[in-house]
Amino acid sequence: MDRIRIKGGNELNGVIPISGAKNAALPLMIASLLTDDTLTLENVPHLADVEQLIRILGNHGVDISVNGRRERQGESYARTIHFTCRNIVDTTAPYELVSKMRASFWVIGPLLAREGQARVSLPGGCAIGTRPVDLFIEGLKALGAEIEIDSGYINATAPKGGLIGARYVFPKVSVGATHVLMMAATRARGTTVIGNAAREPEVVDLATCLNAMGAKISGAGTSTITIEGVSTLSGARHRVLPDRIETGTYAMAVAMTGGDVTLEGTDGALLETALEAIRRAGAEITKTESGLRVVRNGGGIKPVDVVTDPFPGFPTDLQAQFMGLMTKSSGVSHITETIFENRFMHVQELARLGARISLSGQTAKIEGVPKLKGAPVMATDLRASVSLVIAGLAAEGETMVSRVYHLDRGFERLEEKLTRCGAIVERVSE
Ligand code: EPZ
Repeated sequence: MDRIRIKGGNELNGVIPISGAKNAALPLMIASLLTDDTLTLENVPHLADVEQLIRILGNHGVDISVNGRRERQGESYARTIHFTCRNIVDTTAPYELVSKMRASFWVIGPLLAREGQARVSLPGGCAIGTRPVDLFIEGLKALGAEIEIDSGYINATAPKGGLIGARYVFPKVSVGATHVLMMAATRARGTTVIGNAAREPEVVDLATCLNAMGAKISGAGTSTITIEGVSTLSGARHRVLPDRIETGTYAMAVAMTGGDVTLEGTDGALLETALEAIRRAGAEITKTESGLRVVRNGGGIKPVDVVTDPFPGFPTDLQAQFMGLMTKSSGVSHITETIFENRFMHVQELARLGARISLSGQTAKIEGVPKLKGAPVMATDLRASVSLVIAGLAAEGETMVSRVYHLDRGFERLEEKLTRCGAIVERVSE
């Protein structure tokens, strides 16, 4: 199994190209199930999760062709992928596939909208929390679906003539359930109004793409989304938006190590709350023509408290990385996680590098230390692993991060991007 070896202590200087967003690419790919035309997605990142979803979509009958030519605009490695689903050949998403990647559960929306039925495995728990699917079930029921749970599977059936538009207010904000209900409603009869919808940029990106396919969606990006159902959707060409979590991660890495890095091809508007926290910690962040410039020259890292929240709040997907940054602050900071109940698995690993962190319920108290010291570490999820990489970059000596497959799910060419900016990072294969 691959590991990543980091020799800490170097500043980061240079340019890091920001990839297309994993969490936008996945629902966009799933949207290809809604039409028998070709959906072409540009700027798709090359990640393990994308490859896994390609296999899952293939199973449902989507024909996929990847344009292997790298888009050498700037230093992007993005790919253009064409998805064509003339016929859905299988409406079942089996446990073996869904348990590997939760987002594949989201196929339930398009399958139900297009075929009137879906049998999708319940995803089960995961490393960061129990992650139930009750909101998906209630939302789809509101559109008239009949749902029963049988042997670990959800069997969903639309009424004769298809799903029916309705008003549904989510009792809790969910990104995935918003994606699914929005996709399902595009082809329902009549108008659907989703209240308390997720406002994440990835929801807006999906709505933009669906509208390009002929859907009639308004209000995405606000907490009320209105969808007027249409009978068919066509193909479209859409560019995946930049990855705000990758952007924030590298901005925090620079804040941690010091240096001067331009994050190319990104947009600060996608993560204002996180950028503000990084600024308060002591980094200068400015908008440039090609993206964002992050600078920290001299000066220590100041303690900053954050609380995770749905967009536009501080993203849970940057919580672990921010904790990495705070381990070296000049005082005491607090980080409260409100989205997932078990997203502190990185705490014990950061402690192995010398961090001083104590947990009380959903809040971590971080007492900054003057230096971290490299050690072997491992992590249980994607964002936790990258927080260890960030801490390792600023630690003295060698840090060896194992279970790199977590990183490969969501960070494209991480070692290469960091190495080009002066970090000493290498992948060690065994
Ligand atoms: C998306 O997950 C992201 N995944 C996650 O990123 C991200 O952490 C999360 O949104 C929150 O921003 C993708 O986009 C592929 P939710 P999702 O439904 O949609 C509860 C990463 O590292 N909930 O918004 O699964 C749930 O348990 C990943 O890239 C219910 O109670 O998250 C959580 O507490 C990890 N019932 C909260 O809502 C439900 O039916 C928000 O989860 C659904 C969710």
